[in-house]
Amino acid sequence: MACFSDDGLSHAVLGHYLTARDSTILVVRRGSALAGFAVLRLARDRGRAIAIIVSIGVDPEHRGNGIGRHLLREAQRWCQQAGAECVQLKVAQDNVVALALYRSHGYRVVGRLPHYYGVGRDGLRMERPAQPAASVMDPLKSGPASAMIPTDR
Ligand SMILES: CC(C)(COP(=O)(O)OP(=O)(O)OC[C@H]1O[C@@H](n2cnc3c(N)ncnc32)[C@H](O)[C@@H]1OP(=O)(O)O)[C@@H](O)C(=O)NCCC(=O)NCCS
Repeated sequence: MACFSDDGLSHAVLGHYLTARDSTILVVRRGSALAGFAVLRLARDRGRAIAIIVSIGVDPEHRGNGIGRHLLREAQRWCQQAGAECVQLKVAQDNVVALALYRSHGYRVVGRLPHYYGVGRDGLRMERPAQPAASVMDPLKSGPASAMIPTDR
């Protein structure tokens, strides 16, 4: 599937995200084909329970049709239900499509990662709140089991 191969995540790594209890992979199907995916995991950052969008990808043939937006919303729903305080991700500074998608969903730049995507190609760390602090749980103790979740629109 083209959107997975773009990403550089090996089958072994994808298998780990699929089976680990603190991560999951969401997929969107179009007919019998996979049209898009999101890889998510839970972690701790300076004592905070956070969720990380490891990757989102849409097959080039299906881009521009709202699948990325749908995946991001479903990803945020998973992060919220897992009890994360905030959602974090990394994106290349020149990835205008992904940046527009994330900004329109409330993500703000919280850090710069020099040369993260190669010489002269910085990464941006982005973040948004997952849910009100009052309802935060410990996702590493109570998070959902990993599962392949079909997310047809
Ligand atoms: C980024 C990506 C997931 C977006 O998926 P998509 O299905 O094409 O996006 P959508 O159709 O849902 O559009 C969502 C938003 O992206 C932005 N966008 C989409 N296509 C765009 C384009 N050609 N130019 C600029 N912005 C664009 C818009 O903000 C759009 O929101 P809007 O329709 O309300 O204006 C997809 O382009 C992709 O897989 N890219 C390669 C992998 C990648 O860069 N992943 C992100 C790594 S952090």
